[in-house]
Amino acid sequence: MTDGNPVRLAVLVSGNGTNLQAVIDRIASGGINATIACVISNRHDAFALKRAEKHNIPAIIHESGAYANRREYDAVLVDMLRDRGVELVVLAGFMRILTDVMVTAFPHAIMNIHPALLPAFPGLHAQKQALDYGVRFTGCTVHFVDGGTDTGPILLQAVVPVLEDDTEEKLAARIQHEEHRIYPEAIRLFCAGKFCVDGRRVRLSP
Ligand code: GRF
Repeated sequence: MTDGNPVRLAVLVSGNGTNLQAVIDRIASGGINATIACVISNRHDAFALKRAEKHNIPAIIHESGAYANRREYDAVLVDMLRDRGVELVVLAGFMRILTDVMVTAFPHAIMNIHPALLPAFPGLHAQKQALDYGVRFTGCTVHFVDGGTDTGPILLQAVVPVLEDDTEEKLAARIQHEEHRIYPEAIRLFCAGKFCVDGRRVRLSP
């Protein structure tokens, strides 16, 4: 990861792809030693696919309908990633839970971004969970993916205050602004070989 060759990324998406765009832009500006080998979507209508095409990044649709279960789907996904020499898998709004088939194939090499300060508010509707709970601060977390839901070792976090007149949408927009900053930064640090996993703690070398 530090030998100078660009790290080969796959970005997995299901929807709009604003985080994908942030990563594309940061690589284009020369800040990350990486190349996006492919974008893979489990939905044929994901707008993120259009973003990939616009930037001449191979875009693959991998829908789940043909597979009997999640492990079979993931086995084909692993083959796709290995065929393309992928070294880091970036989940960017990919709305599927990965099975052990994926997690064991890419140990400490799958990242996710979650719109809350984990371990608070894992799972779906994290912004609503934060508002309903009444916290003064929430944010976003980049973490490695392990066998649980939003439980893997934490790489980076950013704090976002909850304002008096916040709605779920307003809060989500302010959290996304921070996502677009810290996700490319986490990828940059990974590609520069700066992260070292020590149990649950991820240490950052200077
Ligand atoms: C982000 O808010 C992220 O926190 C969550 O899914 C959303 C994806 O948004 N995991 P986008 O597709 O990158 O715009």
